[in-house]
Amino acid sequence: MFEPSVYSARRKELINNISSGLVLLPGNIDSPMNCKANTYRFRQDSSFLYFFGPDRQGLTGLVDIDEGKSILFGDDDELDDIIWMGTRPPIRTLGEKAGVDETRALTELEEIMKQATSRGRKIHFLPPYRTEKILRLEGWLDIHHSKIAENASDELIKEVVRQRSVKSPGEITEIEKAVDIAYSMHTTAMKMARPGIYEREIAGTIEGISLSHDNPVSFPVILSINGHILHNHHHGNELTAGKLMVTDAGSESGMHYASDITRSVPVGGKFTSRQKDIYNIVLKALQDSITSIRPGEAYKDIHLQAAAVIAGGLKELGIMKGDIQEAVSNGAHALFFPHGLGHMLGLDVHDMEDLGENYVGYDKEIIRSDQFGLAFLRLGRRLQENFVLTVEPGIYFIPPLIDKWKSDKLFTDFIDYEKVESYRDFGGIRIEDDVLVTAAGSRVLGTPVPQTVSEIEEIMK
Ligand code: GLY
Ligand code: MN
Ligand code: MN
Repeated sequence: MFEPSVYSARRKELINNISSGLVLLPGNIDSPMNCKANTYRFRQDSSFLYFFGPDRQGLTGLVDIDEGKSILFGDDDELDDIIWMGTRPPIRTLGEKAGVDETRALTELEEIMKQATSRGRKIHFLPPYRTEKILRLEGWLDIHHSKIAENASDELIKEVVRQRSVKSPGEITEIEKAVDIAYSMHTTAMKMARPGIYEREIAGTIEGISLSHDNPVSFPVILSINGHILHNHHHGNELTAGKLMVTDAGSESGMHYASDITRSVPVGGKFTSRQKDIYNIVLKALQDSITSIRPGEAYKDIHLQAAAVIAGGLKELGIMKGDIQEAVSNGAHALFFPHGLGHMLGLDVHDMEDLGENYVGYDKEIIRSDQFGLAFLRLGRRLQENFVLTVEPGIYFIPPLIDKWKSDKLFTDFIDYEKVESYRDFGGIRIEDDVLVTAAGSRVLGTPVPQTVSEIEEIMK
């Protein structure tokens, strides 16, 4: 955990900026895998981590905006718990680490909520993403479970997004630790990518690297020779010569900050010339985007600039044609680049996505588009110093999408479908880095993972 004063200061911001009432921030509880004693690996709620900090199941935080005080609720271990799990610090100690004014038994929370509701006090809570939390909120607040989501506090969501979007030096250090673990994961995957090995062997090994740092992966490992399937979690294929392997994987730091890195490498270690051509277009889109990142710049514009680099590169190869700016504004490039350039990164890999993507990535000025491709851009708004975000352009040849667009005769002025057919079995390429917005521009976080054609071929030798 950070120093207690860090958590107190964050809660003080809530007290200063929320109009009135109580802010209820429930931590997560253990979730059984197949029976009560066999639980999934515990993951604390990110907003609870941010405002209180303790990484233990069964805790809830409360901030009384009107009285300006914070309470941590939880139950001390009983002898039975101690026999199975050993002696752990009491709730009082966790409260001291969180810098709260009081700690109380969890059973007291229900009564406090009842009293607040009967006095008409506003209880602010965030949209829950787990069923068990919906049911606990239903019990505490006497709101039917089907109405919990719509009763989440707009005011609290906006304040949490405002605070969590701007990273402190301590948080940036944590993200860099997570990127450094990802460095080991990715360079190991590169060295293992030989014909005859199965995807699952590499995926299992790199997840093990994350776990060996005592940290889980920050999202399920994406690793595939079918990289055109954007989030492919199937790891059953044997690697064969001539294929590309896309690995999109990251770890958490000890304090649960995420990394999210993607590399695409040729099985066996040597790019073919057509792979190199496509790879270098994606790399240019990445590098130009990173160069354009600075405070005040709209990420939507940087996304569109990356789309233009991709469309321009594909035009040089005869895959696209016509006026590039027109192609991009019409969305023709989305046949090959159907996703967004990136998203916020922090305690969550898609930071704060549980609070609502449009709260995090858009605002009154920059509104989400509904055009295919651009609609999937999670972050469009203007950047601020100390935002951390991913930059992840890609080019994919997705046979079902190609077939659909071709039969619908979509964008025939901009796409040479006959040429596209010759790339049908190409797969996909994505390259992703984690980037800090600085006063002067940007900085790629963590140890640089090999990225250029020559760096990748060198490490795979
Ligand atoms: N790792 C998922 C993503 O890049 O968004
Ligand atoms: Mn990723
Ligand atoms: Mn990402």
